[in-house]
Amino acid sequence: MTIRLTVQPAGIEIDVEPGESLLEAAERAGYSWPSVCGRQGVCSTCSVLVLSANEALPAASSSERETLQMLPAFRDDDDSLRLGCQIRPSADLAVRKLGVRPIEVAGCESDG
Ligand code: FES
Repeated sequence: MTIRLTVQPAGIEIDVEPGESLLEAAERAGYSWPSVCGRQGVCSTCSVLVLSANEALPAASSSERETLQMLPAFRDDDDSLRLGCQIRPSADLAVRKLGVRPIEVAGCESDG
């Protein structure tokens, strides 16, 4: 079963294989996703706002919550802020994330 990830506001649609994180799926599909720590779950640059999910997401681990608490937008009573490198969804979901773009346009381009 393939899971569909929609990344807003760009409207990017990515198929997520079971067991994959959002970052892993995006990279496999040819997109760059902001990340500093290389999916270690400690930098928070991959964070997303979950807009909708067809099934409840697995709860954040204590280490994910610890990283999320560094973000100004974190609220104890709201679990919509998550780390894209840690979420492994089991159903379609939509997230808000800026900076996700096709790898071929993410780097510098040369006209020579
Ligand atoms: S990539 Fe650093 S916390 Fe996810």
